[in-house]
Parts: sequence; C-alpha cells; structure tokens
Amino acid sequence: MCYDLYVEQDLDKILYSESTILSRLDEIGWQLSQDYKGKNLTVVAIMNGSIMFMSDLLKRIIIPLQIDCWSISSYHGSKSTGNIKFRQHDIVDVKDRHVLLLDDILDSGLTLHTIKNKILAESNASSVKSCVLLSKKVKRIKDIEADYVGFEIENEFVVGYGLDYNEHYRNLPYIAVLKTL
Ligand code: IMP
Ligand code: MG
Repeated sequence: MCYDLYVEQDLDKILYSESTILSRLDEIGWQLSQDYKGKNLTVVAIMNGSIMFMSDLLKRIIIPLQIDCWSISSYHGSKSTGNIKFRQHDIVDVKDRHVLLLDDILDSGLTLHTIKNKILAESNASSVKSCVLLSKKVKRIKDIEADYVGFEIENEFVVGYGLDYNEHYRNLPYIAVLKTL
C-alpha cells in the first residue's frame, strides 16, 4: 500500500513489516494461550500505543479472557517526560485474576514499573506479568523486564503500528525508524 509521500519522507527505514509483526504475534499468542490455559486472565492494554498490538494479539489468544484499557502518557516528542499521567484512576476488579499488561514498547521501564506497582498495590491480583511488542536495548531507569517480548530493538525512535511521535504516525501498518530530528 502506498502511504502519503510526506509521511514516508520522515522515515529512515522500515524495521518490521506488517506480515513480520503478525507472524511474531502468532507465536506469542500461542505461547500465552499455553501459559494461561485454565487461569482467569485479564489483559490490561496501555493506550494509545498498544491499540494495534492489542487488537492483533487478542485474536491469537485462544482461551477465555477479559480486557481493560488504560490511557497513560509519559512521552512528549521523542523524550520521556518521566512523569506518568493516568487519565483514569479506577482499575477494573482483578481480584484473584491473572493480569497481563500489554504495552507497545519498553524503554526506560518507568511506565511498566509504575503500572505494575499500582496494580500490585491496589488489587488482589493472583499475578501481574507484562508483554511488550518492542523492547529497547537500553539501560533501564527502573529494574523491570517484560515477561514476553515481540522484538528487541536498538536505541532508536520508532513509529507506526500504534507508536507515535507527538500523536503522529500511529496508523502506519508497519514499524519504522523516524529520521533523526
Ligand atoms: P518507558 O516508560 O520509558 O519505558 O517508555 C514507555 C513508553 O514510552 C511507551 O509506552 C511509549 O509510549 C513511549 N516510547 C518509548 N520509546 C518510544 C519510541 O521509540 N517510539 C514511540 N514511543 C516510545
Ligand atoms: Mg505508550
């Protein structure tokens, strides 16, 4: 499909095509279906970045589950503000349920660390694990790693497939490196 040339001019290179992403999600979906078989699973997706990841991954998890979406932001431009903003405060009831957090990308670890601790502190979940589409090979500010990772990437700023730069590029069907700003 041909995207607006002005958008493509902003991109350095395509890292993962849509078909490569979907093949990897086949594997993760299968693994999650095995690991959570017979357990009460609640998937909590961090919006807006994980919107495409969530929708494509959920179709590949073949066991019963519940979902909840949390709207959170920490980035402005290509730098983390270090300040996690929750747009809602009540978490869905996950007492005695196994929570799987979904996020688009793990970078400093601040977002996942903050959300995981909030769920652990405010609910009686049976377990809290995380699954990210991308994990940057960087030193984390917080000591956290994801339990399931789609792809490990270098320390580059990427957009597309839900990931944004100031809310742009989320609708690209692939993941691309943005030209250096
Ligand atoms: P962390 O809190 O530093 O781990 O960052 C996690 C959040 O920052 C992600 O949910 C993304 O929204 C955003 N983020 C980090 N790196 C990138 C990137 O390369 N492109 C787009 N968003 C990013
Ligand atoms: Mg995000």
